[in-house]
Amino acid sequence: MIDVEAVRADTPACRDLIHFNNAGASLMPRPVAEALHRHLALEETVGGYEAESRAEAELTTFYTEFAALLNARADEIGYVENATRAWDMAFYGLPLKPGDRILAHASEYVSNYLGLLHQAKRRGLEIDLVPSDETGQIDLAAMERLIGPRTRLLALTHVPTQGGLVNPAAEAGRIAKAQGLIYMLDACQSAGQIALDVQALGCDVLSGTGRKFLRGPRGTGFLYVRRAMLDTVEPAFIDLRAADWTGSGSYALAPGARRYENWESYIAGRIGLIHAVRYARGLGLPAIEARVRGLGAALREALASVQGVAVHDQGAVKCGIVTFAKAGESAPALAARLREKAINVSVTAQSSALLDFSARGIDALVRASVHYYNTEDEIGRFADTVASL
Ligand SMILES: Cc1ncc(COP(=O)(O)O)c(C=O)c1O
Repeated sequence: MIDVEAVRADTPACRDLIHFNNAGASLMPRPVAEALHRHLALEETVGGYEAESRAEAELTTFYTEFAALLNARADEIGYVENATRAWDMAFYGLPLKPGDRILAHASEYVSNYLGLLHQAKRRGLEIDLVPSDETGQIDLAAMERLIGPRTRLLALTHVPTQGGLVNPAAEAGRIAKAQGLIYMLDACQSAGQIALDVQALGCDVLSGTGRKFLRGPRGTGFLYVRRAMLDTVEPAFIDLRAADWTGSGSYALAPGARRYENWESYIAGRIGLIHAVRYARGLGLPAIEARVRGLGAALREALASVQGVAVHDQGAVKCGIVTFAKAGESAPALAARLREKAINVSVTAQSSALLDFSARGIDALVRASVHYYNTEDEIGRFADTVASL
């Protein structure tokens, strides 16, 4: 059980806001903000490099915290500035050849899909779009049927940016493994709201960001790459952190997933993210997942009873992201009016979910995303406000 009073006390902005934009950027809990500010202050007083060297021991806990969060090994974790770059670093390095085929679903994150299109064009790859089943999630039977001798990669987004859907990532992983595919899982919206176990998921690559449900600072992200893949695939590009220059014609990659990192990075952010993972693990991911799922369901139910509101979430399993539209009001206009009332939500436009929204005839939706520190009372006030606007 999560002590809601305590986590709200750690989140001072709760007093002034209804923050239902955790899928955009959550509010940092106090220990995260304090760690971030502490390191920035240290940089100011002793210098950036000097502050980093004082924080050296703490910085290495980045790997152990994420390893524990994901049930991975510490040397399978890298610090990357956001989820998109983490995904790119792995994807662009894959040894894909002209004619190789990639499985993807309409729920794939926009930037990942752009990467797929970019590389399809430049390297002569083919994308096979797996249809959705009747619930809106990736159709696993159809996916299996699409796998052919040239299929190399499954790229799947666990929880899409544009709705409450949770894709069956572990089941997809079992199929990918049985068929010898590389499996890249975008866990950007699931990390921090759903308990993740890379062994159970069966993914070779998992990417995520700090600022969303993990409640870390902006400008931070992480990458998991399975040990077996580290031995066979090189990153898309390397620098002096990712490799040692060993001779006039040679280099040696850094051990483990550190080879996916940048030399220059946001050190204070990394420290903040360490504290964010520690905070989440302290509460327990299963407890977080249960509470977020319950609040998401309660929000859907509350909105469904508001006249003129249509909830649009899909999926056999749903999470804390709730998407809806209100008759007679555009999504951006509704979000702006909510903001005036100190209620934070975001808007997902068709351009960010092109395949999915165009197939469903959706132009834009309001996205309200709850976290464990939100309350049933806030949900009630939110639904009343949406009704009254
Ligand atoms: C599912 C998903 N993947 C990836 C990203 C990209 O994350 P970042 O902005 O940290 O690169 C987002 C951001 O909204 C997302 O929702």
